[in-house]
Amino acid sequence: MAMTKYLDPSRYAAFLRRRTALAQYDLGAVQAEERAKFTSAGFDPVAGRERLDSVLLPLSGQSFDHVTGTDSVHWLLFACLSLTEWGKGARDILEIGTFRGKTTVILKALFPQARIVTCDLPDNDPILASSYRRDDPAVLAEYKQVRDSRVRQDGIRFVQANSFFLPATAPGPYDLIWMDGGHLYPEVAWDMCNAWHMCRPGGLVLCDDVYTDPKGGDAYASAAGLNVINYLAARTPVEVTHFIKRENPAWASDTRQRKYVTVLRKPDPRENRDA
Ligand SMILES: C[S@@+](CC[C@H](N)C(=O)[O-])C[C@H]1O[C@@H](n2cnc3c(N)ncnc32)[C@H](O)[C@@H]1O
Repeated sequence: MAMTKYLDPSRYAAFLRRRTALAQYDLGAVQAEERAKFTSAGFDPVAGRERLDSVLLPLSGQSFDHVTGTDSVHWLLFACLSLTEWGKGARDILEIGTFRGKTTVILKALFPQARIVTCDLPDNDPILASSYRRDDPAVLAEYKQVRDSRVRQDGIRFVQANSFFLPATAPGPYDLIWMDGGHLYPEVAWDMCNAWHMCRPGGLVLCDDVYTDPKGGDAYASAAGLNVINYLAARTPVEVTHFIKRENPAWASDTRQRKYVTVLRKPDPRENRDA
């Protein structure tokens, strides 16, 4: 019976927590807060949105929607970045976690002048088959066909390697790094360490699926990402901003389920030298 699951006290407590959070969620206030983060980062979300839709519409026939839909704010952040002087000068971009290559092609369209390196697991890495239903031969074949059709284009280099080996296989340096591979410990720790060292001074690392609630998490991500970010922030002058991944109430109202895309800026020691 559908109600049986609520006899489990912890599931029932989670159900009540989610229901209360949904009722209390103030979308307008959340949007105002997020807009302020864009502004203080020097981004224009309205122009960014137009730019993003000009890329998304021909690609998928749909415009960006993270309020009623499930698109993630990283696409909007990339679009905003691509409009800045810094973004126009970005030459090298790394994506950790290609998956089906959708973000790879969006990055290529937004930053046509840049070389894109995108990395995903080799066929024999056990995590490949144990995630995203790729143990099903039909799913795996379709995944590879879509991924390969997207990454096989000029200006994109697909590196099939566990990200642990990136410093040897594709050391960079990079202006922009999209960290979207394994979000659990230990992968998230070496990805952040590698990303930090492979990022040029003044460059950016964007980290997907960050839970800021210590009790937050799912099968693919946990609070480990935040722990690593905090570890770095305690030891370097990195600038950190957490952007809500989806404003959609179903995804964002309960803080334990709310995920962020975190933007980390690696300072350039040459800046403000004379200040
Ligand atoms: C969430 S998907 C990436 C989605 C993609 N970046 C996008 O925006 O459409 C995560 C991908 O990371 C890959 N991955 C997980 N652990 C990895 C590792 N250690 N090295 C390389 N890729 C990894 C998975 O195989 C999976 O395809």
